Amino acid sequence: MAETLDIDLQAVLDSVLERGLKHMGPGKVAAYIPALARVPAEKLAIAVSCVDGREAFAGDAEEPFSIQSVSKLFTLLMAMKLRDRALWKRVGREPSGNPFNSLVQLEYEKGVPRNPFINAGAHVTTDCIVTDNDDPKQAILEQFRALSGNDSIQFDLEVAASERDHGHWNAAIANFLKANGNLESPVDDVLDAYFHQCSIAMSCRDLARAGLFLSNRGVDVRTGKRIATERKTRRINALMATCGLYDAVGSFAFHVGIPAKSGVGGGIIGVVPGEMTVAVWSPALDANGNSYAGVKMLEAFTNTIGRSIY
Ligand code: DON
Repeated sequence: MAETLDIDLQAVLDSVLERGLKHMGPGKVAAYIPALARVPAEKLAIAVSCVDGREAFAGDAEEPFSIQSVSKLFTLLMAMKLRDRALWKRVGREPSGNPFNSLVQLEYEKGVPRNPFINAGAHVTTDCIVTDNDDPKQAILEQFRALSGNDSIQFDLEVAASERDHGHWNAAIANFLKANGNLESPVDDVLDAYFHQCSIAMSCRDLARAGLFLSNRGVDVRTGKRIATERKTRRINALMATCGLYDAVGSFAFHVGIPAKSGVGGGIIGVVPGEMTVAVWSPALDANGNSYAGVKMLEAFTNTIGRSIY
């Protein structure tokens, strides 16, 4: 196995991007809202941020895109800090084996979502933030800004409005949670915060920086500040490894081998514990809602540098 310090990161990313280019064909850009359907399918990016301070980028790595469900990783962190063990009475820690927006599973399991990364679970974590903050949307935005060191990160208000206008399925999930006593705040407040967190626009560079504490035992490399305890950090990484790519998580573990979290904007963030965080973006998705070329790039990346947590 190569030592991180020996790797010419830029050369690796350049070749991984080339590999991504070869896999641009099969996927389809998310079309459930017009604001996402418009994103050009040919965008392609990768960024790496290392615990030793090194960074490298390739492709459209500085262009912001809609992070969508990648946001669930960061709202989970906030909810874990707010509620500690009590959170786990309201949300499970098992892979769902079902689509990320499944309603049927929620009914079988009496309103306790399988994990914090399916939509229902994310509504619960967002509910904790809504209940405990006067301005929850701002609190969420501030966390992204602080972790990435980029104060210009914003909500994409067109995406947020589009999510709301086409948000009937999420409204059904949130109402079902409420009917089961698993939402504390009003449904509309939780949905508003959820649609806004999904709309946050960040680049791969921002995402790799924001997630770097997960590779560094919970400590922000840039500021030296502790973001999460070592235990919480391990647990977040474990949830990414087991639930981060929904019902494609087994195949992702098999081929890529690192904890990761995807979003239907085509972004995926991955963690190589102790070494680096990697973010990729390619908007065209596979049948499970994960970036098609993004998964291929991550596979090429971990195989090239010889890393896997397994
Ligand atoms: O709530 C939704 O369905 C979308 N705004 C986000 C879904 C998402 O990114 C799922 N991840 N792959």
